[in-house]
Amino acid sequence: MKRILTGDRTTGKLHIGHYFGSLESRVKLQDDYDTCIILADMQVLYDHLSDEKGKLIRTNVYHALLDNLSVGLDPEKVTFFVQSEIPELSELAMLFMFLVSVGRAQRNPTVKDEMNQAGTNYEHMNLGFLSFPVSQAADILLPKANLVPVGEDQIPHVEQTREIARRFNTLFGDVFPVPECKISKFARLPGLDGQSKMSKSLGNVINLSDTEESVNHKIKKAYSGEGHALFTYGELFGIQPDERMGAFKPALADGINAFLTPIRKQRAEFEKEPGYLREILDKGQEKIRTIGSETMAQVKNKMGMIY
Ligand code: TRP
Repeated sequence: MKRILTGDRTTGKLHIGHYFGSLESRVKLQDDYDTCIILADMQVLYDHLSDEKGKLIRTNVYHALLDNLSVGLDPEKVTFFVQSEIPELSELAMLFMFLVSVGRAQRNPTVKDEMNQAGTNYEHMNLGFLSFPVSQAADILLPKANLVPVGEDQIPHVEQTREIARRFNTLFGDVFPVPECKISKFARLPGLDGQSKMSKSLGNVINLSDTEESVNHKIKKAYSGEGHALFTYGELFGIQPDERMGAFKPALADGINAFLTPIRKQRAEFEKEPGYLREILDKGQEKIRTIGSETMAQVKNKMGMIY
């Protein structure tokens, strides 16, 4: 069976943009691929450097896991694991650093965008940030994944991963498959405020875990002027467009709530069993470390390390 590796940064609750951008396709693909999902808790460190933020990261690992489970990913079939619990990932990322020039790292457009958003620049940005696509390549290549289903903003990272795989194979012989990227139809969902992207940092999101009241409130307040996103949502939730917002908005809120009802129910079931959530992560850790140590033995052997 071919393998999928995809995942989420553990920055907070996942929203409907994540759903249509990647969760939906994970759910569809889980029967046909050995699906592995990484909860990337180290990738958020670049702007989470305090004791307080550290506590948030830990909580957010569980939010991300619950969000994935609530939309129908089956923990009996799918492997969930935490990035920081797999030391082989850091080891592989370190070795990959030698295959990527600083110039190439600086040309990654998603890194550039996020750097600008964070109000920093190449002089001041930490190295962890500049190199997170290299670490992401390790996430994907350690388990030798074949397919990476992601939203549009992740395309540059998968492209960088493909380059690293090819470079390694050319220098040392075939070890890694060159993974394919799979982009969803709604790779980029606009936000409630009409901005081009639904994004937690812009505060324009509908979370998968939002209550009915919260959805009603957010839709009522949503921007409905030129370039609004409401008809795009209508298309997703099966609500006919209607220029009269007084009629359209409540219908849309109902449509979104109907979609979220089974998700909320499923989430509540899993929330009752924190012990089971930890078991899911333990099982994932064991599987990825087993696969990963084999990959590392091959890599180190090829690269001239004693292993
Ligand atoms: N960069 C991804 C995000 O921002 C998270 C991620 C980390 C990831 N490692 C990955 C995605 C490997 C796909 C494959 O959500």
